[in-house]
Formats: sequence, structure tokens, C-alpha cells
Amino acid sequence: MEILIRDTPEEVALAAADIVSAYVRRALPGAGCVLGLATGSTPVATYQELIRRHREEGLSFAGLTAFCLDEYIGLPREHQESYFRFIRDNFTAHIDIDDAVFSPDGMDPQPWKAAQRYDEAIREAGGIDVQILGIGSNGHIGFNEPGSPLRGRTRVETLHPQTIRDNARFFENDVEDVPTHAITQGLGTILDADHLVLLATGENKAYAVHSLVEGPITTSIPASMLQLADKATVIVDESAASMLREREYYRHREELRPSWLGPDMRPIED
Ligand code: PGA
Repeated sequence: MEILIRDTPEEVALAAADIVSAYVRRALPGAGCVLGLATGSTPVATYQELIRRHREEGLSFAGLTAFCLDEYIGLPREHQESYFRFIRDNFTAHIDIDDAVFSPDGMDPQPWKAAQRYDEAIREAGGIDVQILGIGSNGHIGFNEPGSPLRGRTRVETLHPQTIRDNARFFENDVEDVPTHAITQGLGTILDADHLVLLATGENKAYAVHSLVEGPITTSIPASMLQLADKATVIVDESAASMLREREYYRHREELRPSWLGPDMRPIED
């Protein structure tokens, strides 16, 4: 696992955009590239930087496909707070991805079937190449709350009261309006992606970041399963890094990172 520590949230976004751009640029015509997109406040700055690179530097997403990480149950796609709408409004409507953006169907009366179908759709698309992730203050990723199966597939989850409180800010601070359930890619589904890129900023993420990077692999901190990934990059600002015991070593390791290694952890010449 690579740990990149940056001074500010803006620099976190630049480092994340560098990784995604490397995947997008290397996508072969026809072979495409599959992006995994997370909702939440943290990735927004990364999406804005990717939109800027699209507009100003010609970074093209044509022919690519994107899958959202999760979706509330009971919110139609057009709802202001649906994750499908969030991703469209904050990212995909502003790039040339040809509407090839998929999300679980939170309105299916049989949500468990919608979850299964979604998992199959990801597989049929050839799997996700680069998956952006945030982390909840309780260590969740996607809506995989504490107690989630470490090898679980896309499934229905009950939101933790802490997640409902955290997300109430998007529902005019009314916890009653926050949906109680969601369809989320499972931890096993997420782990199938080629490269996991987890972003965290701010002090309220410091404990979760420390636990995910330096604690045991446990369902109590679902994000700790990143330790099992072949390729995972955790990008944090100083505040979110404040509880990392080995932060000096992580900085040292980055300083000595081989110059032939790209941000996507592949040799530049490959
Ligand atoms: P946030 O959410 O980026 O809005 O903090 C992250 C998450 O809950 O996964």
C-alpha cells in the first residue's frame, strides 16, 4: 500500500487526478478503461481537477465506462441527493464519457436482485481498473459499515447511525430524511478492482486512516481490507495523517520512489 501525505486537500486532489489520468491516457482504443467513482465531499476536488484537465489539456474519457460505488435505496435517480445524480452533476456531465455511467438501481422493488445484477454488470465490463474511494469516520467504504463481510459482493446494507448523522448535512440536517438502506459494492467487489485509490482529508478521518493503514484487518474497520489489495494508494492531508505512527517513513519512502514508476504504479515505459 502506498501512503501519500500532502500538505493540503487541494494537493490530495492533484495526486489522485494524476493516478486517474494515467489510467485514462493509457486506455487503448477499443480496450477502454473502467473507472469506479465514489460520492461524498472528499473526491469532489479530484473530479474538478479531472474536468479541468479535460477542458484545458485535452484529457479524453471517450470510450470509457464508469461504475458508481453505491446508491441509496428509495431515491429516484433524478433526486438531488441520489448518488447517480451527484456523480453526474459533479463529474460525468462535464467530460466526454458518452453517458456510459452506471449505478445500482435504488428504486428496484427487489433491491437484492438489483445488487446482484450490478455486480454482474461490473464483471461483464471487464472489472474496474481504478476505483476512487472515500472513507467514513467509522472506517466504512462505500456503504460497507462495520461488520461487513470482507469478501462480500454488491449487496444491500443498513446505514450506521453515525453515517446517517454524517450525511444529514446533505438533507438539510434532518436525519429523518436520510435513507436507511443502500446498495453498495461489497468489499470483495471493491477488492477486485486493479487499483484502489482512497482519499481522506481532515482530522475527523485521522483515526479511521490510522486504523485502515496500521491496524489489523477487521470487519470493524471495513476499509482495512485495503491491506489485501495488490495495488492501493491512500492519499491524505496532514490532518488525516496526524495519527499515523509511521508517517515519517511513508514520506521517506515516497522521496525514494523509483523514477521509472508511474502514478498508477506501473513502469512508465510499459
Ligand atoms: P465524505 O464521505 O467524503 O463526504 O467525508 C466519505 C464516506 O462516507 O465514504
